[in-house]
Amino acid sequence: MKSVGIIGIGRVGGLVAYNLLAKGYNVKAYDVVENYAQGQIMDLKHAFAFADVTVDFTKVEEMRDCSLIIITAGFPRTTSETRADLFGRNRKIIEEIMAKLGDYDGPVITITNPVDAINTIVAKKFGREKSFGFGNTIDSARLIKVTGGASDFVMGEHGENFVPILSNKNYDRDEIVNRVKADNLFVIENKKGTEYGPAYHIAELAEAILSGRDFNTFVSVVCEGEFGAEGISMGVPIRIKNGKLDKILECHLDEWEKKRFQESVESTKKILG
Ligand SMILES: NC(=O)c1ccc[n+]([C@@H]2O[C@H](COP(=O)([O-])OP(=O)(O)OC[C@H]3O[C@@H](n4cnc5c(N)ncnc54)[C@H](O)[C@@H]3O)[C@@H](O)[C@H]2O)c1
Repeated sequence: MKSVGIIGIGRVGGLVAYNLLAKGYNVKAYDVVENYAQGQIMDLKHAFAFADVTVDFTKVEEMRDCSLIIITAGFPRTTSETRADLFGRNRKIIEEIMAKLGDYDGPVITITNPVDAINTIVAKKFGREKSFGFGNTIDSARLIKVTGGASDFVMGEHGENFVPILSNKNYDRDEIVNRVKADNLFVIENKKGTEYGPAYHIAELAEAILSGRDFNTFVSVVCEGEFGAEGISMGVPIRIKNGKLDKILECHLDEWEKKRFQESVESTKKILG
């Protein structure tokens, strides 16, 4: 069975590991806080004691034979911070991890925020087709819970300027944006950080990549002119095929959506400096 490397086995990383083990994948996990990681791993071993899967503490340098790497290492935001505020601290962590991964040549899903800026950096090393920044899927899940519109989704930055694409354009879209942000902050305020929401969807994305099947989703990838974004990772609708980015799916944006998408691009460019 294929192994997945999870770097940063905290709140989100721990639950991603749980979900992947439940799907039958082996997990190699690392965290800079080793005693906490060993505790998480022992707990996971007990959960899956009767299953044919393994979960072990593994140095990042020893994850090069994994079929997929998931990076969840880094500082999460508090209610008084935006994701953009995390860039300086989390960039250093990502650079250190990338150096340790050396010549690893497989796909990478990055979760660490600000994910669009971080994935722009990750894609320079691992390639545009293999570098996926997770964020729009959980934003879309939050949006659907607010609007009830089953085909509604989110594009753009996984941050302050995310772009809701609504089937019903008669809504007050600024109000919808504020309600989605408030629901996200509600989780952070009450339980310090999100976990079940992102972890479930990250595991679904991981499974789609590992299985090689065709999969349409909303993920941050480096754009090459699509929707006016160039050389920067932005949340867009994509098709994954054979475990790689197959193509960015074009869709019509109205003027409000185009403007907000451009604000997303500018915001991530500003973060990258
Ligand atoms: N993209 C998304 O949708 C999404 C959703 C939730 C959280 N996040 C982001 O994911 C990251 C993790 O969030 P969390 O809530 O799990 O935080 P957490 O604090 O629970 O876990 C982060 C873990 O990373 C570890 N870590 C720090 N530096 C490391 C290093 N150099 N090498 C290995 N491990 C290291 C920490 O020890 C910690 O255990 C944050 O940046 C957060 O903003 C993104």
